[in-house]
This record gives sequence, structure tokens and C-alpha cells, in this order.
Amino acid sequence: MIALRADLLDFTAAPAWGDTQPAGLRWRPDHWLLIEHGRITGAQPGPQHPGPGWHTEDHRGRLLMPGFIDSHVHCAQLDAIASYGTELLGWLERYTYPSELSWADPAVAAAGAQGFLDALLAHGSTAAVVFPTVHMTSAEALFGAASERGMRLVAGKVLMDRHAPDGLRDDVTQAERECIDLISRWHGRGRNSYAVTVRFAPTSTPAQLAMAGALCRADPSLYLQTHVAENRAEVAWVQQLFPQARSYLDVYARSGLLHRRSVLAHGLWLDDTDTAVLRDCGAQLAFCPGSNLFLGSGLFDWKARLDAGVSVSVASDVGGGTSLSMQRTLADAYKVQALLGQRLTAWVALHAATRGAAQALQLEHEIGSLEAGCTADLCLWDWAVGAVDARRLAVAQDLHEKLFAWMTLADERHLHSTWVAGQMRHQRAAHRTLP
Ligand code: GUN
Ligand code: ZN
Repeated sequence: MIALRADLLDFTAAPAWGDTQPAGLRWRPDHWLLIEHGRITGAQPGPQHPGPGWHTEDHRGRLLMPGFIDSHVHCAQLDAIASYGTELLGWLERYTYPSELSWADPAVAAAGAQGFLDALLAHGSTAAVVFPTVHMTSAEALFGAASERGMRLVAGKVLMDRHAPDGLRDDVTQAERECIDLISRWHGRGRNSYAVTVRFAPTSTPAQLAMAGALCRADPSLYLQTHVAENRAEVAWVQQLFPQARSYLDVYARSGLLHRRSVLAHGLWLDDTDTAVLRDCGAQLAFCPGSNLFLGSGLFDWKARLDAGVSVSVASDVGGGTSLSMQRTLADAYKVQALLGQRLTAWVALHAATRGAAQALQLEHEIGSLEAGCTADLCLWDWAVGAVDARRLAVAQDLHEKLFAWMTLADERHLHSTWVAGQMRHQRAAHRTLP
């Protein structure tokens, strides 16, 4: 039985676009959050001590939120992060594929998976939808490392049987066997879920896409993750490879890959018909602003997607993105919307990175909020760690102004500690705490 005292922030409903005082915002300054057997059981005002029998930690003056959910990230791309000079297709060839090749070695994959998940926890993300590599051992290593940490993970071996270098291709028969094997061993085991993981249309043959669709049809509890319409040269290539498809998204629709548990990264270059298809099948788009800016891919019109009824989550897309920090990702999201003449509130942004992502993944009973019954996946944040952010927050006039400034200025330096299922899994080194 653990009680944490801090300012509690989460959401009970989706905030409307542009609303700085939404009803679904739950702000409970100076409260105890009560945790029993790894789950949240309630909250009560700070002055009222939880009583004997509770292990208490008093973090008055800090912010306690649900752990962030990174809905699209590549664990084998930390070696390729911040690589100079290319757009998507050149970047894959020159930096990304070589980085992923090294994960063929089970020892590299095991160490890499552990390092990656520890890095996620050190940036405030307690759950993620992750691409490993084509190698079965990479998925194995990732599920194993997430299980050791008790983390909520959605992942699957990457499918790619063409247009990729030697050592990074599978074939339909082998890939199907490996998927079935991984699904039987990891899907629904602990906090792991399997995602049928198509890299993107150009690197799978029609036969492999059909196999992936058959896996989805056979078990509707499986997730599906892929990339779609990220970059204009990529879109033109898909048009060449699949001349019979109406659009890039239609390649996936025809293969049976679009459903309620599909997570599609990017979706920058979609038309109205595509958007309606996404709305009708209930798939979500993972908006990756850091990656879209870094790779020069384009500007994602979040409000237009929301208005059309499509679910949108936010994601780092490291190594296309340049930071695992969700605050940095959300700050980039704000800037992208600003370029489109829109204004992203802190509430829409923070909701998308917590409860919104959980809902889109059909996991809202487990993650994304401080609701009683949810797993205690929590991050304790400092409001400020330096003179500039401390001053800015001190002069903030209302709650939205304060949270917006925090979201824009904070990053992993502000993270005091991370809890997964009620266990502390990351704590900032003591020397980094300011007085
Ligand atoms: N499209 C296909 N593969 C990738 C990848 O690894 N990263 C990004 N951002 N886009 C992709
Ligand atoms: Zn990606």
C-alpha cells in the first residue's frame, strides 16, 4: 500500500479542440494518490493523511501524471537517431537499415532492448507501441525485457520480404511461422500484446500483405502497426508498386490490415476518401511531429483529422524523431499546428499522450489515467529545473498557461521518478536535483 502526495493531473474525457477549460480535465492539487497491489485505488486531499499501514511519499510541489504512451517508436534505431542530411527513403538506406542489421545478433538485441526500455522509462513513457526489427530474436528480446520491467508493450516482429538489404528480409512462409510462434508465446502474456508489424507497403510483397491480413482476421485481439503516407517520394513509389490500388491506404485496406486495433504512423498525405476509410474502420493515426519535421516529411493537420472523426495519438518515432521525450514531441506538435494556423492546447496534447492513446488502443481500463482500477504506471515531474522555466511558471496566470509552459519547456530532466505497476523503475540521479 503506497500513497504518493503531489499535484494530480489526468483526464476523464477528451478535451475539445481549443478549449482551455475543458470538463474532462481532472486537476487535484496536493492530493494523495493511493496504490494497492500495483493498482490505483483512489485519491484524497493532501491534508488528510492516509493513515497507518501506508508507505507514504510526500512530493508536495511536484506533478504526478499517468505515464506517457508512445504510440510509435523503433527500439533498434537509437544508433540512427540524429543522422544528417536525408529524407525518408535515403535515411532508411543510409542509416536505419544498417542500424537494424546489428540486431540479428541476439546479444545485441537483448542489451539493446533493455537499454531502450530503460530509456523510455527515463523519459516518462511507461507504455509503447514498438517496432523492433525483422529478426524474430529482436521481438523476443523486447517482450522479455518489457516483462522484466512489468511494462505495457505492444510489438511484433517486423515483416519485410523485399526492397531491403540482405540480412533484413524474411519470406512469407518463415515470417508466418515466426509470427504464429511469437503470438502463441507473448500475446496476452503479462502486459504484452502482439502487433502484426508490416514495415510499410514497399517492403512487403502482396503475398506477405495478404498473410498479415489473414493473421489479423484469425484473431481480432491482435494489433496491427505500420507506416502510411509519410513522404511524397514514398507515396509515389507505392503508386508504382501497387497500380491497382486507389491510394497508399487502399493497399492496406485491400489486404485486410485496417481495423480497430491498427496503429498507422504518419498519414500525412491522405485524401478525404482515405480519411473516411480510417474513421469507418476505427484505426488510429500516430502523429509523429518530431520525425515529420526532422525528415522534412510534411505537416500533419491534427484538427482536420479530429473533425473527420479519426483517432489521433502522438509518438516520438525515434530514430526518425530526435527525442524520446513526450514533452518535446508535444511541443513540436504545437509548432506544426501553428504552421497550419491552428492552436493546440496543452489539454488536447497531454490527453492524446495519455488517456487518448489508451482509448485508441482499447486499453483505457489499464493505462492512461489515474482512475481507480488502472495499473499504477505513473510519472512524478518537477515543474521546473532551471531559472527560465521556474520564472515562466511563477508568472503563469491560470492552469492552462502553467501546463502549456511546462509542456513546452520541460523534458526528461524534469522527471523525478517513474513507477510501473506501483514499483519505482526509474529515479533521477540525486546530483541533478536542484535545491
Ligand atoms: N517507413 C518505413 N520504415 C520506416 C522507419 O523506420 N521510420 C519511419 N519514420 N518511416 C518508415
Ligand atoms: Zn516509424
